[in-house]
Amino acid sequence: MSSTVSPASAFLPTVTVMTETALTVHQTARPHGFPTPDHFAFVESAMPQPGPGTALVKNLYWSVDPYHREMMDGNFALNAPLEGRTIGRVVDSRDPALREGEIVFHRQGWRTHTVLAPEEARVVPRFDGVPLSAHLSILGGTGLTAYVGLTRIAELRTGQDVFVSAAAGGVGTATGRLARLMGAGRLIGSTGRAAKAAYLTEHVGYDEVFDYHSGPTGRLLAEAAPDGIDLYMDNVGGEHLEAAISSLREYGRIVRIGTITQYNSTGTPYALRNLPDIVEKSLRMEGFLVRNYSHVQDELYEFTVPHLQSGRITLDETVVDGFGGIVDGFLGMLRGENQGKIIVRATGTDL
Ligand SMILES: NC(=O)c1ccc[n+]([C@@H]2O[C@H](COP(=O)([O-])OP(=O)(O)OC[C@H]3O[C@@H](n4cnc5c(N)ncnc54)[C@H](OP(=O)(O)O)[C@@H]3O)[C@@H](O)[C@H]2O)c1
Repeated sequence: MSSTVSPASAFLPTVTVMTETALTVHQTARPHGFPTPDHFAFVESAMPQPGPGTALVKNLYWSVDPYHREMMDGNFALNAPLEGRTIGRVVDSRDPALREGEIVFHRQGWRTHTVLAPEEARVVPRFDGVPLSAHLSILGGTGLTAYVGLTRIAELRTGQDVFVSAAAGGVGTATGRLARLMGAGRLIGSTGRAAKAAYLTEHVGYDEVFDYHSGPTGRLLAEAAPDGIDLYMDNVGGEHLEAAISSLREYGRIVRIGTITQYNSTGTPYALRNLPDIVEKSLRMEGFLVRNYSHVQDELYEFTVPHLQSGRITLDETVVDGFGGIVDGFLGMLRGENQGKIIVRATGTDL
């Protein structure tokens, strides 16, 4: 099959996708530190054709995630299609299990079209009044991460005070929304921009949010939570984790979700200076991977969908319009340009 390769930097979010061809993003080089558009290429090829037992899916929404940056260091093969959580519509089927018009979730992201077997796709349930994009934000892996972190790992109890880092991102906003619904006490967050801090207190339900650029994180957290915290939802690691260990009360819990401070770092990982406090305060620290909790998905729907439908909570999303913006959207998310979950939407999608 012939294909045309263009560097990602040649594409702008307004790129027009020709219907008879498909576009796929490849990683072309391993980054050392922060990636750039030159580490990617848009590859144009003939439209893939479904064979018996498969269906052609036109993708509508793409998730780009911090773990993709981790995969760029080795797990993503070079010059090959990348993976990622995606929602698309079946447009040509050769299998009765994938009906034409059906909306499906799958993992063959970073491409406009793909051919799937039924076992590679999950039909997306539709809920009245809930936009499809929610299945990549609060109802998707992002929201499930927050839900599992709060219910299964932290075992949040009513009135407990919670600190969340990267609070303005996808997991951070979902954590704030869900913790508030679950009866958390004070909700404290950190983020990298004053405007995002204001959004969190005005719209998401956080009580206090600090900009971690405005001073040492330990001091900022101690000022925001002078009486301490019960739980820390850790999306970043490093100095934030050290600050949280210092602010946690006896028997407090740390939920290790991610370590985004290290994903683009070329230096030595931050060395925690207060590890003895974990013993002295009988703290518990536990990490998890959301992919091991797919059995909790229906519970997430049951808990969250009624609140979305009633308007008690709204979606926190930054939507990039057009597949041509997928690389810029991904890089922007790593730089903190997103507020809520970063999602890329195919031009013209209105579901
Ligand atoms: N365990 C799991 O199964 C699982 C599943 C999903 C996600 N995660 C992890 O959860 C975390 C959040 O993921 P997400 O998808 O919701 O991404 P996100 O928070 O929507 O986007 C990443 C955010 O991280 C912040 N950030 C970037 N560099 C930073 C740094 N050096 N220090 C502090 N903050 C920094 C930026 O916001 P600011 O402007 O606030 O800096 C940026 O918006 C990531 O660590 C991810 O790997 C884990």
